[in-house]
This record gives sequence, structure tokens and C-alpha cells, in this order.
Amino acid sequence: MKLTAPSPTLAPRLQRAFDFAQQQVYTLTQNYPDFFPMYTIQGRWKHAGETWTNWCEGFLGGMMWIFYARTGATTWRTQAEHYSRLIAPRQVDRDVHDLGFLFWSTYKRWYDLTGDAAANRTVITAGQTLGLRFKEQGQYLCSFVGAASLFIDIMMNVGIVFYAAQQTGDDDLLRKAHAHCRTTRRTLVRGDGSTAHEGIFDLETGEFLRQTTHQGWRGDSAWARGLAWALYGFGAAYQMTGESTYLETACHCADFYLRHTPDDGVPPNDYDDPRRPVLLDSSAAAIAACGLLDLSVVVALVGDALRAQVYRQMAFTILQTLTGPAYLASETPGWEGILKHGVYHRLRGLGVDESVMWGDYFFVVALNRALKLLAEVNA
Ligand code: GLY
Repeated sequence: MKLTAPSPTLAPRLQRAFDFAQQQVYTLTQNYPDFFPMYTIQGRWKHAGETWTNWCEGFLGGMMWIFYARTGATTWRTQAEHYSRLIAPRQVDRDVHDLGFLFWSTYKRWYDLTGDAAANRTVITAGQTLGLRFKEQGQYLCSFVGAASLFIDIMMNVGIVFYAAQQTGDDDLLRKAHAHCRTTRRTLVRGDGSTAHEGIFDLETGEFLRQTTHQGWRGDSAWARGLAWALYGFGAAYQMTGESTYLETACHCADFYLRHTPDDGVPPNDYDDPRRPVLLDSSAAAIAACGLLDLSVVVALVGDALRAQVYRQMAFTILQTLTGPAYLASETPGWEGILKHGVYHRLRGLGVDESVMWGDYFFVVALNRALKLLAEVNA
């Protein structure tokens, strides 16, 4: 990869996309008040398609908190609080492994932006609830599928368990969060930096049995979104704990992403899926952009300036691509999402080549981070 300085046109381009994202979210809330979409069908959020599992209810409020933080518009704060309050009962939801997605996106921002102690208590409760999924036999937080199942996606949620443990001084909860990361690293991250979606364990002995998948091509393949969850999640776990093996793992996954993803930065849904035409997943690209931007800052701090530049440049490349008309829906009349060409679950036929709520959310997160970084560079 040849290293180049970001183009002066990048920041205004990202700002236009950020403005478009606000318009789309505003229109969504006007058209479908109090509705939490997951994926579009032919560009429309509201439909009777199944959800498989409910994990996306924090992303709408999360975008509103970012809009508020960036613009200072009190209307966004009012909406953000409203959409956050609607999910409050989920802080004790024992049926999903996604409480980080729900509460880190919303209540953690609420707390960070306002200092509201009740919001912080909600984040802590959600982290403690997620900690209840820990399996001593096997040493992992189990997925919603069942006790024997570990998902790579949980790396994006374990941060809220670390946080709850750190805030309350609960060493046992801290032990569980670390054990989950180590087990995930040992069983789902491969030697080449690719990741498996799911690991299956023997519940009696805790023995790791095999890698498998739900949303990727097959058990030994590399599902791109899982890889993006890993590179972002291990990086976040390092930032929360200072545990250097998590940073090494995040970089290992990031390097796989850089080696195997096409030059425009958007990966296939699964790197090993031989079917043609290739099905791309813009949501994996948006998540990877967030993770790479974070990692670029972290690796710079530990003295690896070249790697920092490479990661940052790939993140900017992804955002340059996603803000073009092929992905950004701004020139697609009637399309209700922000980012086109995301994938939820290919095998079940859910949200295939559509907008997906987490794709829109992580795109907004990445735009916000990149705009801040570019402002610092140009200051
Ligand atoms: N359930 C998380 C994902 O689809 O990536």
C-alpha cells in the first residue's frame, strides 16, 4: 500500500455524508415513530421480515447521541434520550449477548455527554447482566443460540462487562471478561488473522469442539463482519485493560483485512465464498473503518507510526468509497437507509444487499471519528 496524505476534499465529503445521515434518521423517525428497524427490504425499513435475534435497538439512539454531540442541536438530544429510554427494560435481558450494542451505543454516550449518574447505572446493570452468560466450563460468554455456543460478535459486547467490573470493583466479573477474550482468541482467531463466526463447546467438560458459522460461508471460512467485530472488539478490549495480547490480536485481524480486502476497502460477505457475483458487505467495511481508526491511534501511542498510518489510510479509503453514490443512498430516490449494499444473514435471506441498521450506525461513528481526526491534522 502506497502511503498518501488525505485529500483536502475528504473532510467536506465526509461532512456531506454526515448531514445526509442526519436527514435519513430524521425522516425515519417522522415516518415510523418509535420503530427500531434492523434491515431494509428494497430500501424500506418497515416490513414483516423476521429478525432472527433482537440486537439492533441501540443503534438508532446511538446515532442520535452522535448527532447531538457533533451539532449541539437539542432536538437531537431530546430524541436520543427518548429512543434510549425506550430500550431501558433490555438492561436485564438475559436472552441476548448484545447488551453492549444496545447500551454502550446509547446510555454510555448519554453518561459521557451529560454526566447523568442514572445513565451510568444502566450501563453497569447491562454489563452485569451480560456477565451472567459466562460459562465456567469453557470460559466464555455464551451466544443467544445456546450455552454451548461462542460468537465472535461478543467481542464487541464484552467491553460493557469490563466496564461494569471496573466501575464496581468486581474482580470476579473482570476475570470473566478477560477469560472470554482469551477463549475467543484461542478458539476463534486463526493463525492467518482470519476469524471463525462461532465456536462450539462440550458443556460437560468445557472442551472446544469445532468452529462453525451462521452468517458466513462455512465453519472454516472468513466471514468479513466477524473479522471486523474482532479487529474492533480486541482493540477496544486493549484500550479498556492495557492487555497487550488483545492489541496484538486486533492488529493480526486488521492485517488480514488489509491483505485480503479489495483496494476500495469493501470486503465480500465472506472472503472464502466462491459464489459469483461476489456479495459485498458495506457494514463490515464501516465497522472495520471504526476499528482501524481506533487502532491507528493506539498503535501510534505504542510507537508504531508506520502501522498507524497504514491503518488510518485504509479507514479513509473505506470512507471515501462508502461516501460515493455506489454506497451512499443520497442519490437513490426513495431509499430509506444511509448506506446501501449491507448484508445481515445470507443463508436465511435476511437483509441481503440492503441497508442494515448497524451498518448505518458504524458508518456514522466512523464519519464522526474521521472528521475529528482530519480537523486535528488540519488544525
Ligand atoms: N449478530 C451480529 C451480526 O449479524 O453481525
